[in-house]
Amino acid sequence: MKKINSFEEYQTEYARSVATPELFWAGKANSFYWYKKWDSVLNWNFNEPNVKWFEGGKLNITENCLDRHLKKRGDKTAITWVPNDPNEVSRHLSYKELHREVCKFSNVLRSNGAKKGDRICLYMPMVPELAIAVLACARIGAIHSVVFAGFSAQSLADRINDATCNIVITADGAFRGVKKIGLKAIVDEGLQQCDTVKKVIVLERTKEEVFMQEGRDVWWHEEMTSISDIRPAEAMNSEDTLFILYTSGSTGKPKGVVHTTAGYMVYAEYSFRNVFQYEDGDVYWCTADIGWITGHSYIIYGPLLAGATTMMFEGVPSYPDAGRFWDIVDKYQVNIFYTAPTAIRALQAKGLGFVKPYKLDSLKVIGTVGEPINEEAWQWYYEHIGKEKCPIVDTWWQTETGGIMISPLAGITDLKPTYATLPLPGIQPCLVDGDGEEIDGNNVSGNLCIKYPWPSMIRTTYGDHERCRQVYFSAYQDKYFTGDGCRRDENGFYRITGRVDDVINVSGHRIGTAEVEDAINTYEKVVESAVVGYPHEIKGQGIYAFVICDEEIKNEDTLKAAILTQVTQVIGPIAKPDKIQVVSGLPKTRSGKIMRRILRKVASGEANNLGDVSTLLDPSVVDKIKQGAI
Ligand code: WT7
Repeated sequence: MKKINSFEEYQTEYARSVATPELFWAGKANSFYWYKKWDSVLNWNFNEPNVKWFEGGKLNITENCLDRHLKKRGDKTAITWVPNDPNEVSRHLSYKELHREVCKFSNVLRSNGAKKGDRICLYMPMVPELAIAVLACARIGAIHSVVFAGFSAQSLADRINDATCNIVITADGAFRGVKKIGLKAIVDEGLQQCDTVKKVIVLERTKEEVFMQEGRDVWWHEEMTSISDIRPAEAMNSEDTLFILYTSGSTGKPKGVVHTTAGYMVYAEYSFRNVFQYEDGDVYWCTADIGWITGHSYIIYGPLLAGATTMMFEGVPSYPDAGRFWDIVDKYQVNIFYTAPTAIRALQAKGLGFVKPYKLDSLKVIGTVGEPINEEAWQWYYEHIGKEKCPIVDTWWQTETGGIMISPLAGITDLKPTYATLPLPGIQPCLVDGDGEEIDGNNVSGNLCIKYPWPSMIRTTYGDHERCRQVYFSAYQDKYFTGDGCRRDENGFYRITGRVDDVINVSGHRIGTAEVEDAINTYEKVVESAVVGYPHEIKGQGIYAFVICDEEIKNEDTLKAAILTQVTQVIGPIAKPDKIQVVSGLPKTRSGKIMRRILRKVASGEANNLGDVSTLLDPSVVDKIKQGAI
């Protein structure tokens, strides 16, 4: 696949993608390997919604990630894995080796009863076997549902049940910094609530002792010995589901975002090559976890489709010290580096002493994703990591979009700190006002929507298509609504300002306030709670919980500790509130709705500027809340 090489080329390509989208995307799709080409490029309506790309086509994404490369770059490193412990040896898997492992593990899956269309849950550490398992699922046509290994047993069980998975792939444990996490024990606990799971495949990683249930649990390494390494890829239809990935919304439980095969594949490679300006031979490192969409699209699929060397890091940025990222960049001569603003801010706070010892001169392009990047962090990243010569690609996208939507193309698009700048070819963003009217012109703000389909967009929410319609396609006629607020400057550059719904973004992790409230409310002493986000120096947003209890609380510290434990058990440590305030009442309207606007102000330390509170049922609760603010 050819990439865009100049801004003029970007403009021409963009214009062509809008004027003749089907021709445009057919051109991109042509560079892949198809068992059978498509009959029609695109059929769509945003009312149901019903979006179909490359219908009639037959393909397998792993044929394109692996087999397609064997002749030309079989011995090239596909995955470089860097362990948590800097003293443990790293691993390098060539395209040939990765292909072989994927074929073998595909056979393991088959011999354990997996077939095309089955849902398989992956709950694993950041080790090459996670990528191997993802690709093996895709190779046999099973649908992978990766659950981030920081989620609790309860969250894991909810996701397994929602997708009715029949196999779980996990490990004995995971290393993360100084911590060791017993993944298998969490799986065992979760599976007490799941009756669809027939097999659990367990990778040995930490070598801690684990319980193995006779007839259900098998060891990865035992299954992999004496199994054939030949496994032709299953011919999939373009619109067959490739994976499900759960993400949080404003209401209810997390929903399973469904991505399908062909469109996702085409867009993953196209966006990867163009945004990062990937060139053959570049070493590429994305620090995300494969449990998130960033890891799916830009650790596994995008880079492997492009035949790149993609790095996987098992550890955390602060271990053994805050220089770890930069140590890895120098050691592996990383050319393209992609991380989250929260990591940049955390490392910036540790001081330049952890950056100075490193050269960082292999870097060509640096990127960010997951949340708005503030100007200070942008400048620090540009100056101290990119040494003022690496373009920063501030990439805006979502689990639902499957790939990067708005971003500079490295070295091609002008940069503007805190701006994701311009849409990729094929992406038609627009801003919409409160009445649902599209806002024309520049120097304007509104809600960000996309008004035309793109190949890697969400197709449905698993098991509940109506929810997909409701959440994304019902707010505005004929538009996909992102949930984000956005500004378009005088040059037409886009700046994403943050969520306009009840979703908060903590360290780049998306957390639904309703989910946290539900978790807090399961604690027996809590009667009601309200959760909002507030600006947090490192995390971007912090979680502030207001709770009402059923009795006078004698020891607030004990109560708070109990709430934190509860949230950790129901969701996971990432959803723990940073601040908990015990209140006697919440600001409610006469119809009983909580006025979150007021709580957000209190949580942000702006309680003196609350605006109109006259519609409240009992305006006096506001004063009490203000007095107790933390
Ligand atoms: C939400 C999506 C996409 C991979 C990681 C997050 C926010 C994402 C940016 C950015 C400002 C951003 C948005 C979006 N977001 N990238 N470059 N600038 N905000 O995926 O968990 O689905 O979250 O993250 O609010 O809606 P996700």
